Amino acid sequence: MYKGLFITLEGPDGSGKSTQASYLREYFDEKGIECVFTREPGGTHIGEMLRKIILDKENHEMCDMTEALLYAASRAQHVEELIRPALISGKVVVCDRFIDSSIAYQGYGRNLGDSVRQINEHAVGDCMPDLTFFMDLPPSVGMSRIDEDVQDRLEQEKLDFHNRVFGGYKEIAKYYPERFIDIDARRDKEAIRDDLISAIEKVLKDRGILCR
Ligand code: TYD
Repeated sequence: MYKGLFITLEGPDGSGKSTQASYLREYFDEKGIECVFTREPGGTHIGEMLRKIILDKENHEMCDMTEALLYAASRAQHVEELIRPALISGKVVVCDRFIDSSIAYQGYGRNLGDSVRQINEHAVGDCMPDLTFFMDLPPSVGMSRIDEDVQDRLEQEKLDFHNRVFGGYKEIAKYYPERFIDIDARRDKEAIRDDLISAIEKVLKDRGILCR
Protein backbone atom coordinates (compact mmCIF):
# COMPACT_ATOMS: atom_id res chain seq x y z
CA MET A 1 0.00 0.00 0.00
CA TYR A 2 1.22 3.49 -0.82
CA LYS A 3 1.35 6.44 1.56
CA GLY A 4 -1.08 8.44 -0.56
CA LEU A 5 -4.72 7.75 -1.42
CA PHE A 6 -5.85 6.74 -4.90
CA ILE A 7 -9.44 7.65 -5.83
CA THR A 8 -11.04 6.91 -9.19
CA LEU A 9 -14.32 8.14 -10.69
CA GLU A 10 -16.19 5.80 -13.00
CA GLY A 11 -19.52 5.63 -14.77
CA PRO A 12 -21.33 5.97 -18.08
CA ASP A 13 -20.74 8.97 -20.33
CA GLY A 14 -22.71 11.97 -19.09
CA SER A 15 -22.95 10.68 -15.51
CA GLY A 16 -21.42 13.80 -13.94
CA LYS A 17 -17.89 12.61 -13.09
CA SER A 18 -16.23 15.89 -14.05
CA THR A 19 -18.61 17.92 -11.87
CA GLN A 20 -17.75 15.71 -8.91
CA ALA A 21 -14.03 15.99 -9.69
CA SER A 22 -14.30 19.77 -9.38
CA TYR A 23 -16.14 19.46 -6.05
CA LEU A 24 -13.38 17.18 -4.78
CA ARG A 25 -10.79 19.71 -5.88
CA GLU A 26 -12.53 22.38 -3.77
CA TYR A 27 -12.74 19.99 -0.83
CA PHE A 28 -9.05 19.03 -0.83
CA ASP A 29 -8.01 22.67 -1.35
CA GLU A 30 -10.08 23.72 1.69
CA LYS A 31 -8.56 20.97 3.81
CA GLY A 32 -5.05 21.86 2.63
CA ILE A 33 -4.45 18.27 1.47
CA GLU A 34 -2.16 17.99 -1.53
CA CYS A 35 -4.07 16.39 -4.38
CA VAL A 36 -3.34 15.58 -8.02
CA PHE A 37 -6.31 15.65 -10.44
CA THR A 38 -5.95 13.73 -13.63
CA ARG A 39 -7.92 11.81 -16.25
CA GLU A 40 -7.82 8.93 -18.69
CA PRO A 41 -7.17 8.44 -21.46
CA GLY A 42 -4.51 11.12 -21.04
CA GLY A 43 -2.91 12.67 -17.99
CA THR A 44 0.60 12.78 -19.49
CA HIS A 45 1.99 14.25 -22.70
CA ILE A 46 2.18 10.81 -24.33
CA GLY A 47 -1.22 9.85 -22.91
CA GLU A 48 -2.87 12.99 -24.33
CA MET A 49 -1.41 12.17 -27.76
CA LEU A 50 -2.84 8.66 -27.50
CA ARG A 51 -6.19 10.15 -26.38
CA LYS A 52 -6.42 12.13 -29.63
CA ILE A 53 -5.89 8.97 -31.69
CA ILE A 54 -8.31 6.87 -29.65
CA LEU A 55 -11.20 9.36 -29.59
CA ASP A 56 -10.83 10.77 -33.13
CA LYS A 57 -14.14 10.21 -34.96
CA GLU A 58 -12.23 9.81 -38.25
CA ASN A 59 -10.54 6.63 -37.00
CA HIS A 60 -13.39 4.33 -38.13
CA GLU A 61 -10.99 1.53 -39.00
CA MET A 62 -9.57 1.11 -35.50
CA CYS A 63 -10.02 -2.50 -34.44
CA ASP A 64 -11.21 -3.33 -30.95
CA MET A 65 -7.95 -4.85 -29.71
CA THR A 66 -5.99 -1.81 -30.93
CA GLU A 67 -8.38 0.38 -28.98
CA ALA A 68 -7.94 -1.74 -25.82
CA LEU A 69 -4.14 -1.70 -26.14
CA LEU A 70 -4.02 2.07 -26.69
CA TYR A 71 -6.06 2.72 -23.55
CA ALA A 72 -3.76 0.36 -21.66
CA ALA A 73 -0.66 2.06 -23.12
CA SER A 74 -1.92 5.46 -22.04
CA ARG A 75 -2.56 4.00 -18.57
CA ALA A 76 0.90 2.39 -18.26
CA GLN A 77 2.54 5.76 -18.98
CA HIS A 78 0.17 7.53 -16.60
CA VAL A 79 0.93 5.15 -13.71
CA GLU A 80 4.69 5.26 -14.21
CA GLU A 81 5.05 8.99 -14.85
CA LEU A 82 2.40 10.53 -12.61
CA ILE A 83 0.21 8.31 -10.42
CA ARG A 84 2.71 6.05 -8.66
CA PRO A 85 5.22 8.83 -7.87
CA ALA A 86 2.41 10.97 -6.44
CA LEU A 87 1.14 8.11 -4.26
CA ILE A 88 4.66 7.29 -3.06
CA SER A 89 5.11 10.90 -1.98
CA GLY A 90 1.87 10.71 0.05
CA LYS A 91 -0.44 12.75 -2.19
CA VAL A 92 -4.08 12.08 -2.91
CA VAL A 93 -4.68 11.24 -6.58
CA VAL A 94 -8.15 11.70 -8.11
CA CYS A 95 -8.42 10.13 -11.55
CA ASP A 96 -11.40 10.55 -13.87
CA ARG A 97 -11.65 6.96 -15.26
CA PHE A 98 -9.06 4.21 -14.80
CA ILE A 99 -8.79 0.41 -15.19
CA ASP A 100 -12.52 -0.23 -14.64
CA SER A 101 -13.36 1.87 -17.72
CA SER A 102 -11.31 -0.52 -19.86
CA ILE A 103 -12.87 -3.61 -18.29
CA ALA A 104 -16.37 -2.14 -18.79
CA TYR A 105 -15.96 -0.49 -22.24
CA GLN A 106 -13.49 -2.81 -23.97
CA GLY A 107 -14.07 -6.01 -21.95
CA TYR A 108 -17.88 -5.89 -21.91
CA GLY A 109 -18.80 -3.16 -24.44
CA ARG A 110 -16.49 -4.53 -27.17
CA ASN A 111 -16.83 -8.11 -25.94
CA LEU A 112 -13.06 -8.60 -25.56
CA GLY A 113 -13.61 -10.35 -22.25
CA ASP A 114 -10.99 -11.11 -19.65
CA SER A 115 -8.02 -10.33 -21.94
CA VAL A 116 -8.65 -6.66 -21.13
CA ARG A 117 -8.26 -7.18 -17.40
CA GLN A 118 -5.05 -9.15 -18.00
CA ILE A 119 -3.49 -6.52 -20.27
CA ASN A 120 -4.36 -3.84 -17.76
CA GLU A 121 -2.91 -5.72 -14.84
CA HIS A 122 0.42 -5.43 -16.67
CA ALA A 123 -0.20 -1.73 -17.28
CA VAL A 124 -0.98 -0.81 -13.65
CA GLY A 125 1.05 -3.36 -11.64
CA ASP A 126 0.30 -2.87 -7.96
CA CYS A 127 -1.18 0.59 -8.49
CA MET A 128 -4.87 -0.14 -7.94
CA PRO A 129 -7.40 2.40 -6.61
CA ASP A 130 -8.20 2.53 -2.88
CA LEU A 131 -11.66 3.96 -3.59
CA THR A 132 -13.73 3.88 -6.77
CA PHE A 133 -16.94 5.88 -7.04
CA PHE A 134 -19.31 4.51 -9.64
CA MET A 135 -21.80 7.11 -10.85
CA ASP A 136 -24.78 4.86 -11.25
CA LEU A 137 -26.96 6.37 -13.97
CA PRO A 138 -28.84 4.55 -16.77
CA PRO A 139 -26.88 5.05 -20.03
CA SER A 140 -29.99 6.40 -21.81
CA VAL A 141 -30.08 9.29 -19.30
CA GLY A 142 -26.34 9.96 -19.53
CA MET A 143 -26.28 9.92 -23.34
CA SER A 144 -29.22 12.30 -23.58
CA ARG A 145 -27.10 14.88 -21.72
CA ILE A 146 -24.37 14.88 -24.41
CA ASP A 147 -24.82 17.03 -27.50
CA GLU A 148 -24.44 14.87 -30.65
CA ASP A 149 -22.10 17.43 -32.25
CA VAL A 150 -19.49 17.05 -29.53
CA GLN A 151 -19.66 13.26 -29.11
CA ASP A 152 -16.33 11.42 -29.40
CA ARG A 153 -15.77 8.05 -31.14
CA LEU A 154 -16.88 6.04 -28.11
CA GLU A 155 -19.83 8.23 -27.20
CA GLN A 156 -21.11 7.83 -30.76
CA GLU A 157 -21.70 4.11 -30.17
CA LYS A 158 -25.28 2.85 -30.08
CA LEU A 159 -27.25 2.52 -26.83
CA ASP A 160 -26.75 -1.26 -26.98
CA PHE A 161 -23.01 -0.78 -26.51
CA HIS A 162 -23.53 1.60 -23.60
CA ASN A 163 -25.94 -0.83 -21.96
CA ARG A 164 -23.31 -3.61 -22.18
CA VAL A 165 -20.77 -1.21 -20.59
CA PHE A 166 -23.22 -0.45 -17.80
CA GLY A 167 -23.80 -4.17 -17.19
CA GLY A 168 -20.01 -4.58 -17.11
CA TYR A 169 -19.68 -2.03 -14.30
CA LYS A 170 -22.29 -3.94 -12.31
CA GLU A 171 -20.17 -7.10 -12.68
CA ILE A 172 -16.97 -5.26 -11.66
CA ALA A 173 -18.78 -4.10 -8.49
CA LYS A 174 -19.11 -7.77 -7.48
CA TYR A 175 -15.39 -8.45 -7.97
CA TYR A 176 -14.11 -5.44 -6.04
CA PRO A 177 -16.61 -4.81 -3.22
CA GLU A 178 -13.85 -3.47 -0.93
CA ARG A 179 -13.15 -0.42 -3.09
CA PHE A 180 -16.17 -0.04 -5.40
CA ILE A 181 -18.88 2.32 -4.12
CA ASP A 182 -22.14 2.62 -6.01
CA ILE A 183 -23.45 6.18 -6.04
CA ASP A 184 -27.02 6.93 -7.11
CA ALA A 185 -26.24 9.58 -9.73
CA ARG A 186 -29.86 10.54 -10.44
CA ARG A 187 -29.85 12.80 -7.37
CA ASP A 188 -28.76 16.42 -7.30
CA LYS A 189 -25.05 17.05 -7.56
CA GLU A 190 -24.62 18.40 -4.01
CA ALA A 191 -26.15 15.25 -2.49
CA ILE A 192 -23.76 13.15 -4.57
CA ARG A 193 -20.81 15.29 -3.47
CA ASP A 194 -21.76 14.82 0.21
CA ASP A 195 -21.74 11.02 -0.23
CA LEU A 196 -18.32 11.08 -1.88
CA ILE A 197 -16.84 13.31 0.79
CA SER A 198 -18.14 11.25 3.69
CA ALA A 199 -16.67 8.04 2.20
CA ILE A 200 -13.35 9.83 1.58
CA GLU A 201 -13.22 11.32 5.09
CA LYS A 202 -13.69 7.90 6.60
CA VAL A 203 -10.61 6.59 4.78
CA LEU A 204 -8.57 9.75 5.47
CA LYS A 205 -9.33 9.39 9.19
CA ASP A 206 -8.52 5.66 9.19
CA ARG A 207 -5.18 6.48 7.63
CA GLY A 208 -4.48 9.36 9.97
CA ILE A 209 -4.35 11.90 7.12
CA LEU A 210 -7.30 13.75 8.67
CA CYS A 211 -7.80 14.20 12.44
CA ARG A 212 -10.89 12.57 13.93
P1 TYD B 1 -13.91 10.70 -21.05
O1 TYD B 1 -12.67 11.51 -21.08
O2 TYD B 1 -14.47 10.36 -19.71
O3 TYD B 1 -15.00 11.40 -21.93
P2 TYD B 1 -15.61 12.85 -21.72
O4 TYD B 1 -14.57 13.70 -21.07
O5 TYD B 1 -15.98 13.25 -23.12
O6 TYD B 1 -16.80 12.59 -20.83
O7 TYD B 1 -13.62 9.34 -21.82
C1 TYD B 1 -13.57 9.27 -23.18
C2 TYD B 1 -14.23 8.01 -23.66
O8 TYD B 1 -13.31 6.91 -23.55
C3 TYD B 1 -15.47 7.61 -22.88
O9 TYD B 1 -16.50 7.32 -23.81
C4 TYD B 1 -15.08 6.33 -22.18
C5 TYD B 1 -13.98 5.78 -23.02
N1 TYD B 1 -12.98 4.94 -22.33
C6 TYD B 1 -12.85 3.59 -22.67
O10 TYD B 1 -13.59 3.09 -23.54
N2 TYD B 1 -11.90 2.84 -22.07
C7 TYD B 1 -11.04 3.36 -21.14
O11 TYD B 1 -10.17 2.64 -20.60
C8 TYD B 1 -11.18 4.76 -20.79
C9 TYD B 1 -10.25 5.38 -19.79
C10 TYD B 1 -12.16 5.50 -21.41
